[in-house]
Amino acid sequence: MIEFAASVDEVINTSGTVFGNSSVTKRAPWLPVIKEFLISRVPVLPEASLDVRIEVKDEGRLPTGSFKARGLVMAVNMAKALGITRMAIPTNGNAGAALAAYGVRAGIEVHCFCPADTSEANLREIVLQGAQLTRVDGMIDDCGKLVAAGEREGRWFSIATLREPYRIEGKKTMGLELAEQLGWTVPDAIFYPTGGGTGLIGMWKAFDELQALGWIGARRPRMFAVQATGCAPIVRAFERGEEFAERWANAATQAHGIRVPAALGDFLILRAVRASGGAAIAVDEDAIASAWRDAGQHDGLLLCPEGAATLAGARLARQQGLIAPGEHVVLFNCASGYKYPLPVW
Ligand SMILES: Cc1ncc(COP(=O)(O)O)c(C=O)c1O
Repeated sequence: MIEFAASVDEVINTSGTVFGNSSVTKRAPWLPVIKEFLISRVPVLPEASLDVRIEVKDEGRLPTGSFKARGLVMAVNMAKALGITRMAIPTNGNAGAALAAYGVRAGIEVHCFCPADTSEANLREIVLQGAQLTRVDGMIDDCGKLVAAGEREGRWFSIATLREPYRIEGKKTMGLELAEQLGWTVPDAIFYPTGGGTGLIGMWKAFDELQALGWIGARRPRMFAVQATGCAPIVRAFERGEEFAERWANAATQAHGIRVPAALGDFLILRAVRASGGAAIAVDEDAIASAWRDAGQHDGLLLCPEGAATLAGARLARQQGLIAPGEHVVLFNCASGYKYPLPVW
């Protein structure tokens, strides 16, 4: 053991802000650091070749390991207050895990319906947290049909995406928090991995509310809805200039969270993307895999595959001139990489 003497003056004066605010870096005065931390866990991808400033908002650090916690903690609190005792959700995994965590804790009976090939980690966290799990031979919208049928029979309350009003309110906090973290400004562009699109719609709502309060101005980030070429209903509708998105047949991608063949809020996603001056773009499986590996190997950042899709999307947008040199781009990594079977290269 080596001892490093901390100077009390220094500790008080630095007040935790000098080297960033992570648990380790803010304790710098106790640590063997000469001048500054060369490598910290503030996730910044130096994508020098892109000539843009890329930052990752890492939602994998939230309770339950994904951004689904934001919407479901809100929805469960409201459901509890309104006297709901049984809930069901169609889920690609992360939402089910968050509902299990909060719903069961609130004394609500929770039923999760997942596609049979959902990540094993998701299935296990759902069961470990006390929810009933049904594996369905189909996609998330097939799961949705079972949940809707059960609701019609009075077996539970459906908490499917955008079927109730509160999940989106919770998701809105992504926009509130982002603006706050950027000193009440917004970036030039946001890349969001888009399945049901609640996060994108929620952030768009948050920006309007912040402007109404005078906390930000009229400038908005260009919103980029990123999908996989194997499941890109929003991209297809965007390119065709349509208001609604037709269901995508034979959906397939390693990024299961964005494997959503039909989104109830398709028109809301499309409206926000168009109003922002952004775009819906699709990235292929190789581009997702390369971005996943590059973020890990170059930045020590273990993304989830949906998060990797946003990096691939930013690369594509830069190539296509949708992002200009020097712009500030925020990628959303919506879950911890640990929830997924990690590829070996
Ligand atoms: C990790 C991850 N990213 C993105 C998404 C898509 O989110 P949204 O439904 O808000 O489009 C999901 C949804 O399950 C997800 O789990």
